Order: sequence, then C-alpha cells, then structure tokens
Amino acid sequence: MIPPKQVQDILDATRIEEVIEEFVTLRRRGVNMIGLCPFHGEKTPSFNVNPARNIFKCFGCGKGGDAITFLREHENLSYIDALKWLARKYNIEIQETERTPEQVAEMQFTDSLYIVNDFALKHFQEQLFDTDEGKSVALAYFKQRGLREDTIRAFGLGYAPEQRDLLIRRARATGHNIDLVKKVGLCSQDGGRDFFRGRVMFAIHNISGKVAAFAGRTMSSDKTIPKYINSPETEIYIKNKTLYGAFQAKKAIRQQDECLLVEGYMDVISLYQAGIENVVASSGTSLTEGQLQLIKRNTNNLKILYDGDPAGIKAALRGLDLALEQDLNVRICLLPDGHDPDSYVQTFGGEAFKTFTTDNAKDFILFKTSILLEETKGDPMRKATLVKDIVSSISKIPDPIKRSLYLKECSSLLEVSEQALISESNKLISTLLKKREEKAARQPSAASDSPPNFGGYEWPTDPPSVGDPVDTAPVFPPRREGEGMSRSDEFQERDIVRLLVQFGNQVLDKEGVSIAEFILVDISESLSDFDNSLYGKMAGLCYDLLLEQKTPDQNFFIHHPEKEISDLAIDLLTSPFDMSHNWEARWGYPLQNQPIPDLNFDADMRQALDRFKLRKLNKLCNVLNPARIKAAAESENMEEVIRLMRIQEKLKSTRNELAKKTGTIVLP
Ligand code: UTP
Ligand code: MN
Repeated sequence: MIPPKQVQDILDATRIEEVIEEFVTLRRRGVNMIGLCPFHGEKTPSFNVNPARNIFKCFGCGKGGDAITFLREHENLSYIDALKWLARKYNIEIQETERTPEQVAEMQFTDSLYIVNDFALKHFQEQLFDTDEGKSVALAYFKQRGLREDTIRAFGLGYAPEQRDLLIRRARATGHNIDLVKKVGLCSQDGGRDFFRGRVMFAIHNISGKVAAFAGRTMSSDKTIPKYINSPETEIYIKNKTLYGAFQAKKAIRQQDECLLVEGYMDVISLYQAGIENVVASSGTSLTEGQLQLIKRNTNNLKILYDGDPAGIKAALRGLDLALEQDLNVRICLLPDGHDPDSYVQTFGGEAFKTFTTDNAKDFILFKTSILLEETKGDPMRKATLVKDIVSSISKIPDPIKRSLYLKECSSLLEVSEQALISESNKLISTLLKKREEKAARQPSAASDSPPNFGGYEWPTDPPSVGDPVDTAPVFPPRREGEGMSRSDEFQERDIVRLLVQFGNQVLDKEGVSIAEFILVDISESLSDFDNSLYGKMAGLCYDLLLEQKTPDQNFFIHHPEKEISDLAIDLLTSPFDMSHNWEARWGYPLQNQPIPDLNFDADMRQALDRFKLRKLNKLCNVLNPARIKAAAESENMEEVIRLMRIQEKLKSTRNELAKKTGTIVLP
C-alpha cells in the first residue's frame, strides 16, 4: 500500500504531457498538445493532451483519462505500478505500508524471479567486463562481431564462463534462494550445475524492460553443439508473447509507425546499433498471435526481413495469414543472397540498409502470389491450388476495401477473372462465418463479456442483454444483396418500429415533441435504408403523418387497411419478446396503460436509436461505401476513390464513437 498522502504527492507532481511525451511525439496546438494516438493506428493526429486539466483524450478511438489511465492502458501496468512509475519519474520516494501476508507472498513470487534474473544479469555482465577471461574471450567476440560497448550494455549482453557452478556459488554467497535460481532455469534441477556455461549471454527483456529470461550463444563453430540455448518458460517468461528487442524498440516503432521483424538476436542488436531501432525478432520461430498483438499495439505496419532459402521462405509465408487476420499491413523484404540483416548492416551500414529495405519491400499478398506463381507455370492443377491458397489469405483480411483491392490486383497477376476470385472469396468467408456462428452458439456464455474479437473482424458492440435476441452474427462484409439481414439488424429495425407504434404519440418533453417526431427526425436520413421493407414502410407512414402535422397513435396502425401493417402492429403490441428488456424488468406487463416515466423512456429510446444508427453506419462502412470505392477503383477514377476513402475514415470514426457510446450507456 502506498499511503494516500504520497499518492497525492505523486499526482500533484505529475504533468501529463511529460508522461505522454515519453511515448508519443506531441506538438502544441493552442492550449492543447496533439499527436498520433498510440492506441489505434492513425495517420492524422486526433490524440489530444490537455496540460491544464492534466488529461488526454483521443477523438479517434475515444480513449481518454489521466496519466495513471494512460500508463495502465499503454504500458499494461497495474494502478500501483503506474503510481510507482510516476514516483520514479518525479523522484518521489515511496514508503509503502504493510501488506497482508498473502499480498506479500503473491507479489514476492514474481518479483523474486525478476530479482534472481537481475542478479544473474549483473553476474554475466561482471564476467564479461571485469574478468580477464571475459574481456579476452567474450568481449573480444562481441567486438569482433562489430558491437560497440554502449550497445553491449543497452542489450544486457554478458558472459557465462565454462565453469560447473560459478553462478550457483555466487547466488549462495549473496543470499539468493537456490529454489528460485532453479525455477528460472539458471541451474539444473538438482542445483549442482549452472545451465549456461561457456557461452556469451543475451538478456531477454519483457516489454517494460525487466529481464524475463536469457539466451546463451556458443562461441564455437562446432555444429554438434546447439548454437543458442534459452531459459525455460516461467511465470515471467511466456515465449509466444515475447518479442526479442520489443522493449528497446517500442518507442521507435510508434514514432515510425512501422515494425521490422527479423529472425535473430544478432540481427536486432546490429540494426539497433546502426540507428534502425524499430526492430524486433521472433527468435527463430513463426509468429504467434500473442506476438502479433504486441506489434499491433504499436503499429499496423509490419515489414518482415527474410534471409533464408526459397523453401524456407515459402514455409514462413504460410504462417503469415495470422498477421492478415490482425489487419496488419504486411510487407516482405528479401535480403541479397548470403546476407542476414546483421551481416548486411555490418557490411554496408544503416543508410544502405534503409534504402535497400525501402526499395525492395513488397506487399505480402502480391509477393506470395508472384513467388508461388513462378513454380506453377504450365501446370493448371497446381495453379488451381495456388489460386485457392491466395484467395484464402485474402479472405482473412477483415477490411473489405483492402480485400477487394487485392482481389482485383491478384486477378490480373493470376490471369483469373476477378468475378471468379470474388465468388471464391465469398464462399470462404461465409464458411468461416458459419463456423464462427456455430461456435458462438455452442458457447453462449462466451459472448457475455466483451464483444469477442475473432481475428479482428468487427463485431457489433451492443452489449448483449436479456430479452434481446442473442446476437451471434458478426457484421461481416460482404453481405450480398438479397442475402437477408442478420437477426440483430432485424431486431434494431423492429425495435424502432415498436417504439413508433407503441409510444409514437406520447409527448417526450416540455416543448411537446412527440416520440414519433423525435425518432423520425433523428433517423430521417436512413428512412430509405431499412433492410426490412415492411418496417421501412411503417416508419415511412409515420413520417408522412408527421409531415401532415398529425401524430400516429396505436389505433392508426391497428386499424390500418393494409393487413400486413395491422398484423405487425398487433404483433408488436402484444409480443413480450419485442419489448425492450428494460421495460419488462422495470415495469412488468401490460405496459400500454401505464404512465411513462419520461427519463427512463428517454434512455430506452435513445439507446434504441443509437443502436439503429450504429447498424446503418456499420452497413455503410462495411458494405455500401466499400462497394462504391470498388466501383470507382474499377473505373479508375482515383479522385473519387480518394474522396470515398476519406468518407470511409469519417464513417468509421463516427461509427466507433457511437459504438463506444452504446456500449457504455448505463440504464438505471
Ligand atoms: P540464427 O542462426 O540466424 O542466429 O538463428 P543469429 O541470431 O543470426 O546468430 P548469429 O548471427 O549466428 O550469431 C536465428 C534465431 O533463431 C534462434 C535464436 O533466437 C536466433 O537468434 N535459435 C537459433 C535458437 O533459439 N537456437 C538455435 O540453436 C539457433
Ligand atoms: Mn546471424
């Protein structure tokens, strides 16, 4: 526990702009400062920092709060750790009060693992810098590989001499618990032998810079010895969520809005030393979802550098659909024969490296298409497989605009009609969608927390609620015309009509505005966009009445000459499942004769409206506008494409704001 008085001291000392500037480049605009939002990818700044009020707010993604919120979200810190971070920054000494024994035990366990690793890091560094053997063998090795001393220190490099139990003895002598030394994998389970012996050492940091693990490289070229050995997984080292170099690179990744991915530890270190700091390594394995998310938090742009042989590269490409699912823009750059990033930059220097990788990076999908295409020449069977393979990759991309542009591009590369590719892609997508729906239906409880994110597809953000039909269908483009609407679309429209029929003539506020007026003015622009023609017709009827200065009441609908309208009205007025769940819970049935408490009704209605608009916006964003963009792209009207793309951005941000709002409305 940090005493309240000290919490206050910390908060008083905190200048939000100074905190955020450690992560985001800000510039002044009036009383505020603005920059590119670190929480979502953007090209024009909508991230605002208000020094006077000590808060930040992003108008693009809606995130906002104080410095503590920022650190918690951005650095994944707990409240206490965020306070400690600030205390460190502002040189405030914290005197913590007593914790409960359980708290102490819990915190101490992971802390103690880090403490052991810190001890080991110092030990390896001492062996490297302060012993004759270290200097003549290991430091010489690093220097011979072109590393400077500041680089060696920045990456926590060290040396483990060829001795049976040097580290264990040092740990004992300095009072460390040998069980913990075993736990982090620094010695054998019987406590008799050091794990790393006769190797140069690489500290592996977690994203906030603590030492989570080590790797040791042999200096021998004997092929029978493993080149690298690594610490085992522990509570503080989860391999598939770790990217080597991420801690050192994250600031540069954000600033440059791009992440370079290489294979090896040495590649990261050499590039960093040459001034290319936005680089991480997957450590020889294929990328995992956890690692991609780590990247995604900092940028949407991933450039992968490969040095292997063509067979290896082809295998690697297969793993990359995962990156597409995360909606990352993936580019691939092959290095010239015989070079890996480390050797390239050590030979030609940082500037040459930058030029080469800028000039030679190719879009992943197009790259994959062209290298696979080369080997299928004159073999129609293999070409068919290839087409499926490529379309399957493209179908993983959540953004419909990107998908359609790729399909177009690949159609000419593959010499297959675009229409064929589109229909193949639609088939894949609807299979994928069905699978997900089935899965969601099998696990209904999984949907009750936050909206699930299946590979980055955008899901409706309405909080699922009792009484609403279970919303299992994602808003998933492209939904072809006439294919029917999702149940939730249907429900939103029905809910609007329900409100009109049931309460249309009720007066909403002191000015005498009726509910029908309120609703219809609000959605007048969408009147022609109703997916269900009957609901659209009902709304249109009400609108016409309003234009004649009349207000629709229940009888108007119940006794309407058109049977489908009167049937629906009766249905709406009697079916309990059409009632918004709030009504049922709050007022019970029947509702029609009860006075309407204005405020609560207001909230119910506004929420229904917001959800309705959200649906429409989703449709515009996901289907209609992309279709327009595609059409414009087809007729090569680039100006129109650009204009529509801008509209798309705007639509998306409005939609996101609304989604956030409907997600956070709290009804009494
Ligand atoms: P490399 O063999 O390319 O190593 O393996 P490197 O980093 O370029 O090292 P140098 O330049 O030969 O010194 C790429 C990565 O694969 C993992 C390591 O993460 C390495 O950085 N690897 C490789 C292992 O974990 N174990 C091994 O035996 C070999
Ligand atoms: Mn190498």
